[in-house]
Amino acid sequence: MRALVVAGARPNFMKVAPILAALEKAGQEKVLVHTGQHYDARMSDAFFQDLGIPEPDFHLGVGSGSHAQQTARVMEAFEPVLHEVRPDWVVVVGDVNSTLACALVSVKLKPELGCRVAHVEAGLRSGDWRMPEEVNRVVTDRISDLLLTPSRDALPNLLAEGIPEGRVAFVGNVMIDTLFTQLPRARELDLLSRLGLRRGEYVAATLHRPSNVDDPAALGVVLEALGRVADEMPVVIPLHPRTQSRAEEFGMAERLERLRVVEPLGYTEMLSLTDGAAVVLTDSGGLQEETTALGVPCVTLREQTERPITITEGTNRLAGWPLSTDGVLGAFREAAADGRQRAGGHCPEGWDGKAAERIVNRLLNS
Ligand code: UD1
Repeated sequence: MRALVVAGARPNFMKVAPILAALEKAGQEKVLVHTGQHYDARMSDAFFQDLGIPEPDFHLGVGSGSHAQQTARVMEAFEPVLHEVRPDWVVVVGDVNSTLACALVSVKLKPELGCRVAHVEAGLRSGDWRMPEEVNRVVTDRISDLLLTPSRDALPNLLAEGIPEGRVAFVGNVMIDTLFTQLPRARELDLLSRLGLRRGEYVAATLHRPSNVDDPAALGVVLEALGRVADEMPVVIPLHPRTQSRAEEFGMAERLERLRVVEPLGYTEMLSLTDGAAVVLTDSGGLQEETTALGVPCVTLREQTERPITITEGTNRLAGWPLSTDGVLGAFREAAADGRQRAGGHCPEGWDGKAAERIVNRLLNS
């Protein structure tokens, strides 16, 4: 079997790493395509080094742009690669623009090339069509041949959209494979002492969703809320380039001064920061899952989540919508009071470090 694996943006890298390793272990042929959606050293190269991901066989170098530009550039650049590689499977992960773009190219070429598309992390739904990721998820699932789900609650979402059950397979959460592999290394890092932090005595925050950072009023509320939290406990925020540029554009750079701003971290460093935090405040999807796996309380700065299992079984809670300073502060205090293990909380089924193995088995047997 020849599998072409696509990675484009930061949240893809920790998902493709174990899939590539499992393909290698199973003696299968693998081809890695990096679309170049994320290109800064700290948003991309750092992850390849940290996670031991091999050099991409193809780098499409698409970079930033509007959604249409970025998606179109990936599609144009990916098409000739697919003609050249002629894989049995195209494996796309997550919900970024590169995921959708490559799935779309592949499904159109399937009659000619015979390549099938597998979507890893299928079936997650926020129900919020204003999120570009929601559009990417729904369309990618609709056109893919094999939908590999990270949690049991994804299946009813897919069935409700008329997708036949035969196309869906529960494999568990591949991102947690990487977390368990890297945790020992993360715990050996000296990041906390370098930042002058003590385990369990700081908040780790991340912020990059367009709904929180692209609108001045929304960004103002979130930064004020984080500033209030920082009055109670130091808040460390590895700043996404998008958030950095918006804060400067809106004249809000001084609001960041109440926080401990650091550059975007590599995978292992971020894991170390998350693992040692008293509470995580975030609008990321992946961190909701990572905190659940680690048992670290998490407050999600969004209206809803496509990962409800992190609330029902894990350590996550929503901050209350619309976001307000009091709402975020209240949720933070509750989360801090919860401590590391919420009563009855546990790691969801299939978040066990073996998801990539199950994915490769599915590809071989479908
Ligand atoms: C993308 C994903 C989002 C994911 C996030 C993680 C989509 C629709 N969104 O959002 O789901 O959670 O990645 O980071 O695919 N930039 C740089 N250097 C980089 C990358 C981006 O400076 O290496 C800046 C550019 O100004 C760019 C902006 O960040 O315009 C946004 O990047 P983009 O890839 O469009 O989306 P993200 O916000 O990163």
